[in-house]
Amino acid sequence: MMAPFSFLHACVLLLPVTHGVAVQEAADPPTWNGGIATIIMSNCTDCHRKSGAAPFTLVSYEDAKKHARQIKRVTASGFMPPWLVDQPRGVFKHERGLSPEQVELIGRWADAGAPEGESTGTGKVASKPATAQWPPKWADIIVEPPEAWSVPAEGIGSMHVLVGSNPASEQRWVRRIGLKPTAPRAIHAAAFLADTTGAAVKMDEGSDGPGYEAMGDIGASPSGELGAWGIGMEQFELPGTMAMKLPADSDLVMELHYVPIGRTLQERPAMALDLVEPGEPVRQVVPVMMGSLLIDIPAGDSDYSISDFFTLPVTSELVGLLPKANFLCRRIEVTALVPGEPERILLEINRWDPNFKFPLLYREPVTLPEGTMIRMEYTYDNSSSNPRNPWSTPRRTGLGLTNVDELGMLLLWFAPVQPDGVESLERAHRLELVKRLGLHRDWKRNRKSPPAREPGGDVGSSP
Ligand code: HEC
Repeated sequence: MMAPFSFLHACVLLLPVTHGVAVQEAADPPTWNGGIATIIMSNCTDCHRKSGAAPFTLVSYEDAKKHARQIKRVTASGFMPPWLVDQPRGVFKHERGLSPEQVELIGRWADAGAPEGESTGTGKVASKPATAQWPPKWADIIVEPPEAWSVPAEGIGSMHVLVGSNPASEQRWVRRIGLKPTAPRAIHAAAFLADTTGAAVKMDEGSDGPGYEAMGDIGASPSGELGAWGIGMEQFELPGTMAMKLPADSDLVMELHYVPIGRTLQERPAMALDLVEPGEPVRQVVPVMMGSLLIDIPAGDSDYSISDFFTLPVTSELVGLLPKANFLCRRIEVTALVPGEPERILLEINRWDPNFKFPLLYREPVTLPEGTMIRMEYTYDNSSSNPRNPWSTPRRTGLGLTNVDELGMLLLWFAPVQPDGVESLERAHRLELVKRLGLHRDWKRNRKSPPAREPGGDVGSSP
């Protein structure tokens, strides 16, 4: 088995030859202290730590030894570390993944009985700091919902919305948002919105307990998207002087995507906002939502797709993207058609998993010229051969926000290069929203029967 020379070489240097036997170096089992610890610490402990998102810790040799066989299995299958993007690689912040050599090394280590190896003399392998400091130093305001919400122990999970009030009385600019869930194992993703319509507060008041469960149809979203968060991530941060508008008198809304873990947990997340000082320069980032509301997936259909297009009216930098879909979705493809250039892949995901949805922020924003057409295509598998199908017997599935419904949206964060481009971009975006809602209305009117979801029934093994 071949591994790059430098990597193997490094391992051999670290491997103590303890018994004085003539060893074939490459066949020597790797050890925890001789390299495995470093791989685990730099790829796994963001989540596999105390109060992390993962179900157990991987911060010591004892932890890793206990889970060695499982670690081999999930690294070989690519399930861990979770990273859904097949293409492009090397362009997004927070990218995760092991090299084939690292996977092979872990496999040999597990097969050899997970040897510890001799300590390199520096004592324990340093683990990453357990948690980042909270509240973060950069926080200008911290928002907390007034009470904790009980995350249900059972079910297949869904989206719960909590509302907090924005203490800023004037319009401000947000450049960074952090989230601290109190039940990190159950909260897999979150989105932040500024609602100026009062709709979220009204929904909250009309529902028992703190916040409300997002149910049913996605109508118009009256709220402004501010950013998003995914597990293992500390903060959502915009580059340079870029920032998003936080309107005065808006309510701050947290959409929490949760997964029940078998016991009831108390969740009262704190959200930290880093605001631009008044008078400082700002480049406005405009969130653009693409997607289709015309989703009606027949039971058994293994290759159902939706698509949408958006043409950029002004040259803009693309700062990041966030795909949104549920358990039936398998494949996501987003391309950019720049006039006069070959098609460029912005995003290709072949094994979508809503439990690991994550805002994809570029290390370096991508400039797309005026007239670029963004195209998204999502493919769904509503057959019983999709292991994530929430129904043991597939059912016709339509648009909605709970985990047994489907959706197909894509949020893109654009910063127009010219300041006066903001208005054109916002106008083009509004127009698309109106068109999309109109199409949806006509479609609903003309359809013979809506893809209504029947409550209860045979929700199968939840994925
Ligand atoms: C971004 C957070 C995150 C990172 C990074 C991460 N994990 Fe996990 N891991 C999870 C979560 C969440 C689960 C529970 C998944 C589930 O039950 O569906 C999990 C589950 C597991 C499991 C149990 C899988 C099973 O089938 O029961 C193993 C083993 C594991 N992780 C190993 C690793 C290893 C090894 C790494 C690093 C190479 C790693 N994880 C990195 C979040 C993470």
